[in-house]
Amino acid sequence: MSALTDRFGRVHDYLRISVTDRCNLRCLYCMPEEGVQFEPSENLLGYGQIAEVVRAGARLGISKLRITGGEPLVRPGLPGLVRELASIPGIKDISLTTNGVLLADQAEALRAAGLKRVNISLDTLDAARFRFIARRGELRRVLEGIEAAAEAGFAPIKLNCVLLKGVNEDEIAAFLDMAVKRPLHVRFIEYMPIGHADDNWRNHYLPLSRVLEIAGELGLAFERIGDVLGNGPSDDYRIRGGAGTFGLIHPVSDQFCTRCNRLRLTADGNLQPCLYWVDELNVKAALGHPEELEKLFLKALAIKPRNHEMAAKLADEAQSHEPTARRMSQIG
Ligand code: GTP
Ligand code: 5AD
Ligand code: SF4
Repeated sequence: MSALTDRFGRVHDYLRISVTDRCNLRCLYCMPEEGVQFEPSENLLGYGQIAEVVRAGARLGISKLRITGGEPLVRPGLPGLVRELASIPGIKDISLTTNGVLLADQAEALRAAGLKRVNISLDTLDAARFRFIARRGELRRVLEGIEAAAEAGFAPIKLNCVLLKGVNEDEIAAFLDMAVKRPLHVRFIEYMPIGHADDNWRNHYLPLSRVLEIAGELGLAFERIGDVLGNGPSDDYRIRGGAGTFGLIHPVSDQFCTRCNRLRLTADGNLQPCLYWVDELNVKAALGHPEELEKLFLKALAIKPRNHEMAAKLADEAQSHEPTARRMSQIG
């Protein structure tokens, strides 16, 4: 049995590492327009310290890493971190989640350093709407980032599209069309009530059953497949005759906690057992003490809850445990 098996029998082999809470966009489902209080850079773990935490995790059974933010590409020198992580015994898969704005400049260096896969956020195919959702940056740069990732040889390239009622639901057909025509894996994601005003979430939450309805209306023949090479919660579909595939990530309407395999390390050095759970463990005092770091991994598993309670929020029911006050950009 893996050392990283929790109270509910779930085996953990996946660590998501946030390298910064900063971001060059302000997506309306993630951050307020004015930004949030960012961590001073001296509070962030250094790359060497991140590698130390990963070494402890790898000794216990972590084999897959995902680098996240905020926007990870705003932190300088990321290829150096990838190279260091790739050399750690037991690490088999390193991937990156990015908004794509800075990817065109860095794709090749990241690939050369040993990064295997990239997931890129893309919520709209319309430049004006991009400004509305992301409030900064330009859609063109993201599209260039996607092309650069393909040219650098990353595969599969996954696109993350957070569906927002009244904002981009009219683009579901266009995104499905993209999956038909191009060898991309387009993932539709439910808006999660993480760390922000309830009203925004309530007004824009859209269950993903709508995607399958529209795929049917478009006359697409699709079927469930096993994972499209991934470690995450996506339910994936093949489209008959399509160059690409699509996936659904529906944490609210169809919880996937029973197959959770992940822990998180925040940029400011906290091991977090669950995305939607208040408890976290600071690793800083354990740096330099490998066994203490290993103990923190085991402790994180010991306090990991069975499931999050986002659906209770939708039903307006009381929640039995406190969700985190962090935003997605502060968790990763
Ligand atoms: P792979 O399957 O390895 O490609 O990655 P992934 O899907 O785990 O990673 P990514 O960072 O692209 O995450 C995509 C979406 O999944 C995020 O936008 C979140 O909505 C959701 N997600 C990721 N991790 C969790 C989690 O632990 N809990 C919940 N509820 N949602 C998550
Ligand atoms: N709900 C769903 N997805 C979110 N993301 C950020 N905030 C939310 C939220 N509240 C997504 C981003 C990115 C991934 C890391 O998380 O779009 O694809
Ligand atoms: Fe930045 Fe990602 Fe949050 Fe958008 S979702 S503001 S790209 S961290």
